[in-house]
Parts: sequence; C-alpha cells; structure tokens
Amino acid sequence: MTTTNLDFQNQILQGIPLELPSKKQYPSKSNRAPKRKDILSVEEKKLAIRNALRYFPMEWHTTLVPEFIQELNDFGRIYMYRFQPEYKMYARHLNEYPAQSQQAASIMLMIQNNLDPNVAQHPNELITYGGNGAVFQNWAQYILTMKYLATMTNEQTLHMYSGHPMGLFPSSDDAPRVVVTNGMMIPNYSKPDDWEKYNALGVTQYGQMTAGSYMYIGPQGIVHGTAITVMNGFRKKLKEGETTKGKIFLTAGLGGMSGAQPKAGNIAECITVCAEVNKKAASKRHQQGWVDVLIYDIDELVEQVREAQKAEQVISFAYVGNVVEVWEKFYEEDIFVHLGSDQTSLHNPWSGGYYPVGLGYEESNNLLRNNPEEFKMKVQESLKRHADAVNKHTEKGTYFFDYGNAFLLESSRAGADVMSENGIDFKYPSYVQDILGPMCFDYGFGPFRWVCTSGDPVDLDKSDKIAEQVMIEIKATAPEEIQQQMQDNIKWIQDAKANRLVVGSQARILYTDAEGRIKIATAFNNAIANGEISAPIVLGRDHHDVSGTDSPYRETSNIYDGSKFTADMAIHNVIGDSFRGATWVSIHNGGGVGWGEVMNGGFGLLLDGTTVAEQRLKKMLFFDVNNGIARRSWARNKEAIFAAKREMERTPDLEITLPNMVDDNLLEDLK
Ligand SMILES: NC(=O)c1ccc[n+]([C@@H]2O[C@H](COP(=O)([O-])OP(=O)(O)OC[C@H]3O[C@@H](n4cnc5c(N)ncnc54)[C@H](O)[C@@H]3O)[C@@H](O)[C@H]2O)c1
Repeated sequence: MTTTNLDFQNQILQGIPLELPSKKQYPSKSNRAPKRKDILSVEEKKLAIRNALRYFPMEWHTTLVPEFIQELNDFGRIYMYRFQPEYKMYARHLNEYPAQSQQAASIMLMIQNNLDPNVAQHPNELITYGGNGAVFQNWAQYILTMKYLATMTNEQTLHMYSGHPMGLFPSSDDAPRVVVTNGMMIPNYSKPDDWEKYNALGVTQYGQMTAGSYMYIGPQGIVHGTAITVMNGFRKKLKEGETTKGKIFLTAGLGGMSGAQPKAGNIAECITVCAEVNKKAASKRHQQGWVDVLIYDIDELVEQVREAQKAEQVISFAYVGNVVEVWEKFYEEDIFVHLGSDQTSLHNPWSGGYYPVGLGYEESNNLLRNNPEEFKMKVQESLKRHADAVNKHTEKGTYFFDYGNAFLLESSRAGADVMSENGIDFKYPSYVQDILGPMCFDYGFGPFRWVCTSGDPVDLDKSDKIAEQVMIEIKATAPEEIQQQMQDNIKWIQDAKANRLVVGSQARILYTDAEGRIKIATAFNNAIANGEISAPIVLGRDHHDVSGTDSPYRETSNIYDGSKFTADMAIHNVIGDSFRGATWVSIHNGGGVGWGEVMNGGFGLLLDGTTVAEQRLKKMLFFDVNNGIARRSWARNKEAIFAAKREMERTPDLEITLPNMVDDNLLEDLK
C-alpha cells in the first residue's frame, strides 16, 4: 500500500514511508518562507546534503541528492517538500491520534495546530510565525517525531534537539514526555549569521517563543497583551474619574503583531489612529475586522477623528500613509494625543522595517533595492523628524512609550533627540519598563493559556465561565495592589468569546498570577473529571512571561541590578518545571527579539482529570511563576518584593531570599 492510501493513523505510525513518495510541486509563492541567505561554501553544502540524507535509506540517495541541492540553492534550506504528508494538517480531537500515551497524543495535537495552514505563517516550510519561527527544520523530523510520539509510553522521554528527535529514552511516569531545546549554541556562536549557517547545515533552528515549543495559539495572545498595555498606558495619563472614551491612541503598523493595536484599542474603548504605509497590509487588517475604517487622506483623517472625539466613539482608524505625517498634522491641528507608541519594524531598519516619510511605499522599495545607502539616510532623517514630532506632543502631555521595536534605539543612533538628561537612558520608557513589568510580571501576572483537546467550542465556553468564576472569587479578597489587574482580566474573559479570537484549536489566553493559574487549572481538572468538560485540556503559556524569559531589552528590561544580561532564570524555569510535573518543557535561544538576544523557556501540561494531574499542576505552576517573582524581588523591584512576601505568608515551605535596601545617600560621595 502506498503512503497516501494509508489512513491518518497508519501514516503516522509508519514514520519515514516504506516507499519513496513522489516528488511534489513546490508550494505556491504566496505563503512561502523568504529565500534564506546563501551562506554555505561548497564543502558546507555537501555537509548539509549529507546531514539531510541521514534520515533516508541509501537506495533513495541518488534521487534525493539533486533535489536537496536544488532546495538549498533555491531556498537556502532543505525542507524536504517531497515528504510533506498528504493528510490535512490541523488539531484533531485528542482521541484521533494513534498513541500509547495520552500525554504524547496531546503533544501531537499541539504540533499539528502549530503547522495548521490557518495558524502557521509558512506552513510548507514548518514556520509558525515571525518569519523564521520553526516547529521543525524539515519534514523528516516531523514524520519521525510523530511516530515516536505515537509509539512512546509514559515510561519514556523524547529528546528534541532543535527539531531533530534524538530518540526515546527510558524515564518515568513523573518525567516530562518531551524535552525541547531550540538553538542552544556555545555563546560565542550565537550571532545572526551563525543561525543562517548552522540552520542551513541542518543542525539547529530558531524556535521563536512558542513555535518550537508547540504552544502558539494564533494572534489572540498578542491582542490580550496589547490591550493590557494600552489600558494601563492610558491610566498613566487619565485623571481621577476620567475614562478612555474620546481619547486618542496614536501609533503605527498593521503587520504581524502590530495589527493587534486597533483591536486592542477598541477593547480599551478609545479612539485608535494607526498609520500603515503598506496599502495591502492595511486592507488585510480591515477585511479581517481588526480595524474599523480605512482613510487615505490626512485632512479626512483629522475631520473623522474630531467627529469621533465629539461623539466619544470607540473606533479605530487606519491611516494609509506615513505615521510621521500624522504626528505632525495632529500637532498643527492641535489634536491632543493621550497615548502614543510605534510598532514599525525598527528591529530591522535598513531592509524595509521602517519606511521614511516623504517617499511613497513603492518609491521606498525601489530606493531600497537600487540605492540602499541613500535609503538608510532617508530612514535616519525620517526618524529625526518622527522623534521631533513626538517630542512636541509629549511636551503638551502625551504619554509615549517604546513598544519593544527598537524605535528609541534606532532614533538615538540616527541622532534624534530621544536621550534623557543623563545621556544614558532614553527620554521615554519601554512598555515592559513602565507597564507590563511593574504592573504584571512583578506580581506574577502573565499570559497563561489553555487548549481544549476536544476541539469543541462548547468546552471552550465552559472553560471561560469557570475561569471567570475563579477570578471573581479571588478578586473578592485580593489586596488593593492587584485589584486593577484582576478587574481587567475578568473583563477580558467575559468578552473573550464576543471578540472572536480563536484561530485553529479552541484556545484561550488569560493574564493571571500564580494563585489564579493554579485555581483555574484545578477547577478545569475537576470539570474534566466530572464530565462537565468533555476531554482533557492542555495548559501552557507564552514565553513572554514572569519567569520564562531573560531578555534585557524586553521581558527583563525592568531589572535594574545589572543581572538583566544573565539567563539563569530561564534555565532554572525549565529545569524546575521539568521535575515538578510538566508534560513537556522547552528552552529557546532568541524568541521574540532575535537569535543571541534572549533565552526563553516554557512548558505544556496535560490536565486529564486525575488526582496526579492535580498534584502536578499545583507544584509546577507554583514554581513556574514564583521563580520569576523571586528573581524580580532580588533585583529590588518593589512590586515583586510585595508578591514574594505575600506568597511566603501563605506557603510555609517557600523561603525566598529577600534583598536588604541600601540608603543611596551612603553612596553619594563615592568617587
Ligand atoms: N506587539 C507586541 O507585543 C510586540 C512586542 C515586542 C516587540 N514588538 C515589535 O513591534 C514591531 C512590529 O512587529 P510586526 O510583527 O507587526 O512587524 P511587521 O513588519 O509585520 O509590521 C510593521 C508594519 O509597519 C509598517 N510601517 C513601517 N514603517 C512605517 C511608517 N513610517 N509609517 C507607517 N507604517 C509603517 C510596515 O509597512 C509594516 O506593515 C517589531 O519590531 C516587533 O519586534 C511587538
């Protein structure tokens, strides 16, 4: 029987097919991953081919060698398109997976969700999001991994080396079923070009935050984080009793992550003005319902914004044009902007991440191709103008923050006026320094998430209700310090269904602290045990969290004791979770901000309604959050010290080393 005649379960169980599958057409250009750098020497290309052929019997090698060379030359990588399965890729009901271990089956479900064409950015190249966030390097790795997962027992652990399944090793029922590492490099070999080279050789991969840990659930994670940021940004500015109604949030970018801004603005109930130079990106977000109105003319924008202000409308406008024009025009027109930010892709300033003012979109792209040096100059001039316009607004009282996109960094490099008086810090804070760090992460609030393995929206509804109830109960006796966070998250979960954010599996994200995560998970486990929820639930979180990620310019940018360039917390997180009950753990290099810039770890945990699952969730979730609180409190963050003390009061076994404070006057005369 040929592979395609086998049913889904038998194809999985077969692993690498017995017969060589026929060659496939290359997937259509529209959703294919960009061609990667041609970085290997001829000898290295031979090594890459030799590496790829390791997965297949020798009698196929003569056929595969020319094909793999062509893939390497055409795409810069060997994806092994020929071996891409014919069956539909999506998260099935947990029971549809062939498995000896239900835990392993849940990992298969999550892998398929991360490769679902409705969820993944470049599904044929096994890339889930962010352009290069890979689940596997090639299709052979996928096929082998699924077979291992289908055949393994609860007495074994599968070890994944950057997408490659190294094998099944005897372990125990209490051990994780899978241990994932992505992009672990010897530190001196962790530059972006090292990724290009070693990924092309087929020996490492970039797992982003949640792609390579099978925990991506579509864009709702970004919407929730952005909504919290926008709401709290406003609170920095609003006077007692004022609401966001009729107030303006001005920003830029309607791309991958930035596209969440107008939706988040609507959730925060303000007027959002989001500039986007690329007409296609703007129309796409408009069609998807992520932004309400498209406007091409700046005078019309002014008129419509004024009307919306008068009517205190909750509405989002996409201005199809350059954001600098909007900042300048609103100043001229004396339109007060309460909240300002920017999500152009300034982490990538010279290759089209930021479009300079004064040039049209196509004009910019032509200049970029034909005269990259002049393009760079234009970007820098534009950044100076951009920062000048922002400064004029902030002098009038606008609250501006950097959205982790390197806006301030690149503006400073361009010579713009963005440095504070001490010449070291920027004039404006980043979203983590001012908002997510002190208001969420330091108290333990982070992007907890769950996936209903039945795939049934009814189960998701029930889980939403359970989570809401638990949050309301916790809020009733929660201290003043976290009342606002509790309230925001109760509102989020109440509105979650109406906001229609599910893409792929039936999943939900909810920012909550250790107590909330543990109580919600326990309530889910009980609901699974008594049949109220029809099938197990997978728990997880984004790596952009309290303790998963050491990232000096993002998640740990509000650590001021000098330790933000260390990565001990992320490593402890993963090791600690692994022996406290995680079903799988993962540690990555580079998630979110780039290879070499960050270490981030995460977990998955299957709730199957058993008492063992209850013990596991309690131990593991407790450590998963409090590890980060301990580190943040040691760094003298006052909110984290509060959270650490509070947790110790109710958990006698917990002893966190607390810092002694220093009187800075003692140090003043130090030369
Ligand atoms: N959303 C988050 O939670 C978050 C967190 C951290 C960092 N970021 C950063 O935000 C940035 C954006 O991410 P993305 O995935 O949306 O990138 P993206 O490249 O998909 O989108 C950016 C958009 O900005 C537009 N743009 C560029 N210059 C412009 C200009 N001058 N005026 C108007 N529009 C312009 C581009 O056309 C593009 O569509 C990245 O640097 C990312 O690292 C976002």
